[in-house]
Formats: sequence, C-alpha cells, structure tokens
Amino acid sequence: MFMRFLVVAAIFALAACSDENSSKGGSGEKTIVIKFPHVTAPATPKGQGADLLKKLVDERLGGRVRIDVFPAGQLMSDDDSLEALAFGEVQMIAISLSKFDRLTKQFQVFDLPFLFDDIEAVERFQNGPSGQKLLTTLEDKGFTGLGFWHNGMKQFGGPHPFHKPSDAARLKFRIQESDVLQAQIMALGASPQKMSFGEVYQALQTGAIDAQENTWSNIYSQKFFEVQDGLTESNHGYLGYFLAINTGFWNELPADIRVELSGIIKEVTDAVNLNASKINDEARQTLVTTEGKVITVLTPEEIAAWRQTMRPVWDQFEDEIGVEMIATAVAANVAHAE
Ligand code: LMR
Repeated sequence: MFMRFLVVAAIFALAACSDENSSKGGSGEKTIVIKFPHVTAPATPKGQGADLLKKLVDERLGGRVRIDVFPAGQLMSDDDSLEALAFGEVQMIAISLSKFDRLTKQFQVFDLPFLFDDIEAVERFQNGPSGQKLLTTLEDKGFTGLGFWHNGMKQFGGPHPFHKPSDAARLKFRIQESDVLQAQIMALGASPQKMSFGEVYQALQTGAIDAQENTWSNIYSQKFFEVQDGLTESNHGYLGYFLAINTGFWNELPADIRVELSGIIKEVTDAVNLNASKINDEARQTLVTTEGKVITVLTPEEIAAWRQTMRPVWDQFEDEIGVEMIATAVAANVAHAE
C-alpha cells in the first residue's frame, strides 16, 4: 500500500517546486517556502536545529527562501509527514531513523540495542563511508538525505525502576514504528505497542501502556516523568534523525540557492550534533533538581545483563541489515575506526 503511494508520490514530487509553494518576496521574485513539520518541543535538539535553520535562512536568503517550522506535531504526526514529504506537500523533515522501517531496512542498524557505546561512536559511524552512503538510500523514493541529527541515547521509563531485565517483563511498552524495537521489547518478555509520539503521555496517564523508552530531552519536554515513577538510565539505544528534503523540490531549486542552503544545513547539522548531548544533560539535571525525580543508574554488571538479554535481536536482523554493516557500526565504538 505504502509502496503504491510512493510511486504516485514520485510523480507529484517532480511538481513540488510549484507556484503553490511560493509567495511574492519584496523584490517581486517569488519566495520559495520550505514547510518543515516536526514532533518535538522547540527546546530539544531537533527543535533548536529547526529554529536555527529558519534563522540562518532568513539572514542569508531572506526574501528568496523561507522556512516555516511547525514544531510539537502541531501540523502533523511523523507518519503523516513521511507521506506529505513524498507527495511534496511539505518539503523538509527530520524524522527518527526508527520510523523509516517501512521504507528501508538499511536504517535498522541504528535501532540495534547496545550497538553504539555512545553518541561519539554513532557520529563516527555516520560520518564514515557506510553512514554517508545511507544518506542516499531513499533518493529513489523522493527523500534526499541532507544529514543526520542526533537526539541522544535512550533511557527507560516505567512504573518502577528497572535494575534487571526481568523488572520490565510483562509490561506494555510504547515503541516507535520499528520491528527491531519490537523485537528488543519482546526479548525482555514485555509487550511492545507501536504508537505515535503525540499519544504517549495520555497512554501512560490512562494506563494503556506502562512504560516507554526515550531520551532525557524528550522525557522532560513531553512531561512523561509526570506519569512515570521509575526512570532508569540505561543508554541502551540511539535516537537520531534523518534530515531529508523532497528530491524533486531540491533538484529544481536554483543552483545558487541550493549551494547556499547546503552550506547552511551543514552548519546547522554541526551545531545540532555539538549541542545535543548538552541539551539532554540539562534535561536530566532539571528532572532531578527541579522536578525531584530519582533516576536509577545501572551498574556495569546490571548493564551487562541487559546487553545479554537483548543481544539475540542482532542475530534476528543480521540478514536484513547485513553482517558487514553491523561490523562497521561496532568498529565505530573504537575512535578512528572508520
Ligand atoms: C519518538 O517518537 O519517540 C521520537 O521519534 C520523537 C522524536 O522525534 O524525537
């Protein structure tokens, strides 16, 4: 079904740089409008990145290009944004890599539990040849990759702290739209439920789900902590974004604008990735000092038990992701590997 719509979308995408997308600038030249919806709060790594992008475009391409940012899911969900980008209804997205599962199995590598030791390892992998190649994976489906933006490492939230994997057993976990994440939660003997980001708070509040995994900045800004007593620092997986633009729209931009935009996007990507950890650290700090939350930090021995429980997920997805890709990612845990 989704594939059929992509074929139609590819045709529409060619017409994406249309009059409908443009408005008159002061000089009489049409202003090219880039609609950029996203689901997180403005004070998150992605929210700040989107706002910085808008600011720099206003400063350097003002009148010729404008970025309209729609944060916090106010325009649409991530699911709808994927379709809207393919159809050229919006021009830019920064959606969690986990949510591209139905479009490509290539990004699944990012969801493997305990694959990357930290954000620096992810960065080395993304900046290496294998990571850079992933940016072109969805080109034929109308998504031109412009960069990877970090959020951070994921933590667990539940009705109680999780010291050992069995503490999570039988709980209902909200997960993003990813089969790897589904397998990861099943490995814990728990029950995964794919659900959109905007629905999580209420689902926790009403008891429709018991637990979730996310970064500190998302746990804080979405106020998940208000409806969860147990916060556990596990750093068990990565949450980051594929920054993409509609391919037809991108290719039809005047060359000088494309060059200027590419430079701005590179600058913003560097800034997002430099600041993401700091934003997550601050959110964590605020949870403790201002909100009075207790965060359970797992000991190395406890982490080892979680690793062991979730490790079979790698084997389950090895064929789809590719042994070499996984090996390259693992090697990125050692500095200067790629
Ligand atoms: C989620 O659904 O948990 C994340 O993809 C939200 C986000 O964009 O960080």
